[in-house]
Amino acid sequence: MKFIESSFVKKMCEVTYESYLRYWDERNGGNVSCRLSAEELVGYEDISEVRSSHELGFKASNLAGQYYLVTGTGRYFRNVTKQPLLDLGLVRISNDGLSYDVVWGFEDGGRPTSEFPSHLMSHIERLKINPAHRVIFHCHPTNLIALTFTQDLDERHLSRLLWKMQAESLVVFPEGVGLIPYMTPGTTEIGEATARKMGDFSAVVWPHHGLFASGNSLDETYGLIEVIEKAAMIYSQIGAQGGRIKQDISDNQLRELAARFKVTPRKDFL
Ligand code: 13P
Ligand code: ZN
Repeated sequence: MKFIESSFVKKMCEVTYESYLRYWDERNGGNVSCRLSAEELVGYEDISEVRSSHELGFKASNLAGQYYLVTGTGRYFRNVTKQPLLDLGLVRISNDGLSYDVVWGFEDGGRPTSEFPSHLMSHIERLKINPAHRVIFHCHPTNLIALTFTQDLDERHLSRLLWKMQAESLVVFPEGVGLIPYMTPGTTEIGEATARKMGDFSAVVWPHHGLFASGNSLDETYGLIEVIEKAAMIYSQIGAQGGRIKQDISDNQLRELAARFKVTPRKDFL
């Protein structure tokens, strides 16, 4: 079977296109990486040949031998579904963790996203706390980005605001959302800062830029982004209706939600 027919490529095409349709990935904005094990790749006839090898720029020894299906730098989410062989690549992290081999895709010479170091550093942190972790999804959700202009850049404040916008929020991200200061994208520094937060949060907000979200599957990770952005969108709509909040979900109601859905909210946030 050819790798392009795999459920991994199909799902990647689906989520990137949907994310584009929601205005979360204008132009080349956004990137996704999904970890695949060697066992899951058994049987695909076109991924055994190394097409090119590249330095990572840092040591990812914890990920040695892992495969990542990843979007290319400069590629438009709008196009992935039409040309997956150009805009996606399957790479294998080398045994010493210092480089990667392209074994499928990127057929016109593409390379993984410029945020690949941030992705891999985040994968390392998430895998430490959750062996089933697979996906890092970066995108530019409009209403969430807007919040980072109007709200205090404080994790507790932002998390509580998002929790109180709808009953789903606390159930889906009981740990809240992490936050880093505004930093230059594509750098090792932003990767390190994001990864540090990924030890505590499944999603990390990049002020005035977007979101880094993680999960065990593309569906779960995309769902997490949907819920966070929906909460931010409700806040925007409240603004459109005059902005005055007459009532909201109380702290006690949040505690009742947590008890009903058996989740543990972050202690210092609730
Ligand atoms: P890439 O095109 O390199 O994936 O960058 C897009 C982006 O959103 C940077 O933060
Ligand atoms: Zn971005």
